[in-house]
Amino acid sequence: MISEKIKDTISGTPIIPGDKSISHRSIIIPSISQGVCEINNLLKSDDVIHTMNAFKEMGVKIEESDNKVIVHGLGLNSLKRPSKEIYLGNSGTSARLLTGLLASQSFDSKITGDKSLSSRPMKRISDPLSQMQAVISTVNGCLPLEIKGKDLKNSTIDIKIPSAQIKSGILLASLNTSGTTKIIEHNVTRDHTEIMLKSFNADINIDKENNKKIIQINGKKELTPNNIDVPCDLSSSAFFIVAALIHKNSKVLLKNININPTRNGILIALEKMGANISYINKRISNNEQVCDMEVFGSDLNGCELDGDLAKLMIDEYPIISVAASFANSTCIFRGLSELRVKESDRLELIKKNLLRCGVDCKIEGDDLFINPSKTYSIKDHTIQTNYDHRIAMAFAVMGSKIGQIKIDEANCIKTSFPNFIEEFNKVGGNIN
Ligand code: S3P
Repeated sequence: MISEKIKDTISGTPIIPGDKSISHRSIIIPSISQGVCEINNLLKSDDVIHTMNAFKEMGVKIEESDNKVIVHGLGLNSLKRPSKEIYLGNSGTSARLLTGLLASQSFDSKITGDKSLSSRPMKRISDPLSQMQAVISTVNGCLPLEIKGKDLKNSTIDIKIPSAQIKSGILLASLNTSGTTKIIEHNVTRDHTEIMLKSFNADINIDKENNKKIIQINGKKELTPNNIDVPCDLSSSAFFIVAALIHKNSKVLLKNININPTRNGILIALEKMGANISYINKRISNNEQVCDMEVFGSDLNGCELDGDLAKLMIDEYPIISVAASFANSTCIFRGLSELRVKESDRLELIKKNLLRCGVDCKIEGDDLFINPSKTYSIKDHTIQTNYDHRIAMAFAVMGSKIGQIKIDEANCIKTSFPNFIEEFNKVGGNIN
């Protein structure tokens, strides 16, 4: 894919797909509830399709029509042993969440994935589950995972790594485990699983204690079905937000975007940088905060972001790094160790590709420093994505500002945003 410079303006109303995190949960939780759930605006991207196929393979009836998916859940113990291994492609969320769920089932299973997923750490989920007596084997801490399904033991799990995937995997394991499982979370991470479980009448209780979040869940209580309207994805919107901000005279309208406060770090960060964004029609839908947004071309300032904010915007560093490249002073992004274990080593790839675009940047420890310059001499036209969707989309936005950029592998965009190229071109992007 080749992204070319555009004149000045990004404008219009792009269609942003359903939120990826909520879409995974909108298949998983209804599949183990007791009844029929109608899901609107589900993201049909490669990652979510892998989750959906896994549940079909485990005997769940899932009907699909235009913008609607109907899941026929049969209860906590209704899943059938899959006839083959469960292949989850590139999807870390599917892998971590399903590991928790499958560990508490009455059958054995095996999880595999593509090359990138097979190199990502899985002990972060198998270790805490083993405290509940789960039996999971990894290959050097990675996929394939062999899961021996069994009754688990309720326990108290202290989560050391800030990760919603780990928390959610444990929550799903506790649903089918007798007694009270207690989860202690030291860092704020996205809470879509807790929100959805509450709306499915799970016996879940959440408290705060000295900056820690304590989640208690009483297992073996069947979930009540609920219909879900999946809001649009803030992480996918971020490519359009930044594209509009860095092009003068731009105006983009984004509708029905999820602004859950455990996910909105990108908006806090851009506000700090002087972004002109207005929030309209704030409302609650399925207990998630949503709104429409108008984004205008802005002069961005440099800023320093700390590691606490990183937890609220972990997927947005590729695109905020593009924004930082056009700010009027240095940006320092701190505490980015988790970026190294995403779909790629994102920290290294951001640096490598920014340098190729002539942007002065460096990594010190887990911190990224970006020094914008006034002139960009593209040193190498090819962006290396390592099959990482967010790197590909972020640098497509970069190309619209600085000139021709070739992105080595665009197919990976289907992981989270199948219509990205079409929507970006609709608002004035220039991608071939
Ligand atoms: C996700 C959690 C995050 C995020 C990922 C989606 C989720 O991962 O990066 O894209 O849906 O729970 P971590 O839990 O590893 O931080």
